Amino acid sequence: MDSYKIHLSEAEMPQEWYNIIPDLPSPMPPYLHPATGLPITPADLAAIFPPALIEQEVSPERWIPIPDEVRRIYQLWRPSPLHRAYNLEKALKTPARIYYKNESVSPAGSHKPNTAVPQAYYNKAAGIKRLATETGAGQWGCALSLACNFFAMECTVYMVKVSYHQKPYRRSLMHIWGASVYPSPTDRTQAGRNILAADPETSGSLGMAISEAVEDAATHEDTNYALGSVLNHVMLHQTIVGLETKKQLALAGETPDVLIGCVGGGSNFAGFCFPFVPDKLKGQDIRFVAVEPTACPTLTKGAYTYDFGDTAGLTPLILMYTLGHSFVPSGIHAGGLRYHGDAPLLCQLVHEKVIEARAYAQNPVFEAARLFAVTEGIIPAPETAHAVRAAVDEALVCKDTGQAKCIVFNLSGHGHFDLAAYDAFLEGQLKDIELDPDENIKKALANLPKINP
Ligand SMILES: Cc1ncc(COP(=O)(O)O)c(C=O)c1O
Repeated sequence: MDSYKIHLSEAEMPQEWYNIIPDLPSPMPPYLHPATGLPITPADLAAIFPPALIEQEVSPERWIPIPDEVRRIYQLWRPSPLHRAYNLEKALKTPARIYYKNESVSPAGSHKPNTAVPQAYYNKAAGIKRLATETGAGQWGCALSLACNFFAMECTVYMVKVSYHQKPYRRSLMHIWGASVYPSPTDRTQAGRNILAADPETSGSLGMAISEAVEDAATHEDTNYALGSVLNHVMLHQTIVGLETKKQLALAGETPDVLIGCVGGGSNFAGFCFPFVPDKLKGQDIRFVAVEPTACPTLTKGAYTYDFGDTAGLTPLILMYTLGHSFVPSGIHAGGLRYHGDAPLLCQLVHEKVIEARAYAQNPVFEAARLFAVTEGIIPAPETAHAVRAAVDEALVCKDTGQAKCIVFNLSGHGHFDLAAYDAFLEGQLKDIELDPDENIKKALANLPKINP
């Protein structure tokens, strides 16, 4: 009987993360200091990050060992299975072979603990007692709460206000794992107070919540900041996903033609795809498809330029695709994809045309998610559903052309806490938001920092 799932044993779990920096086609542009415009130094980051993560951020080493304590916790759910989507293939009548890497099996329900655990570990080792962070949909907040709980650390989560109210059970999960959770913007920080003074009714954004968490960390000696995406060390930790996938595809006798992932800040996509990028750079015919919402079209409609990672302008300037740090995305249900920028490593590879990007509106995304749920049984997170849509569309192209391609996507999380979004979809209440580039985007881009690197 053909297998539905391809498993690796716990002993086969990768022992090192893959760092793409030495394999980039061109050197990585530096982060710039927000005050001086000059490249930042490790000392600039030391107020909010531990030394090990600062080192990983710029490391020239291709392989970085995963500490034993981290591997031990990974073993609670890793290696995650790679599934063959036989039922979806049959429903689509496609000759394509579709696989998905199932990151929804982690305790928090997504890929996010892959980086939360090492971040908590390295901070604990540096003597830090508390981590402060932001969360959009609540997945990252849950993952960091879980990780802090394993290392007996405190965790403070600034949760984007619209999600705080849309996702009460994500909040419950964070509370069970011992975190304190606040709807952002709050009056706990100067950044939050400024934002509330300007717009008391704001629904919040990831950029605002980041400003609050960074300020909290920078103003408390025993507290550091943890970011769930965007930064190089986060991409690095997530490569365990792609490294396992590579081994599993080899076991299935497959070479992928297309790899697909959704993009919020870029971490699940990068972690899934980066280990395959050297193969493409060496000439293998493989496509990488990054999928984002039309309501927050960073890669497909943003500008490739230096911008802040947060709303208040506290973070270093990053060369990335951006919609402008003052961009406030509408309250679509894929809360984790509502970020104005993206990981600089991912942006660089999109800019160099190694990775392609596309955007979808909510309704076609949820249609694909429902098809996936009724065929494969798993209910994808709304973020993940963007990748499902693209995989379905790639498989439908194969149906037209008769090509039997190998399509692999990252199932970054399940949607068990997103059922209100599914209800809204089933009741026909979801709005498809297509941004008017002239109105929404140009306005936010007008506020870009004036820097000439
Ligand atoms: C399930 C899931 N997938 C994807 C994302 C997007 O984040 P990233 O692009 O960093 O993977 C999120 C963010 O919250 C998420 O919860």
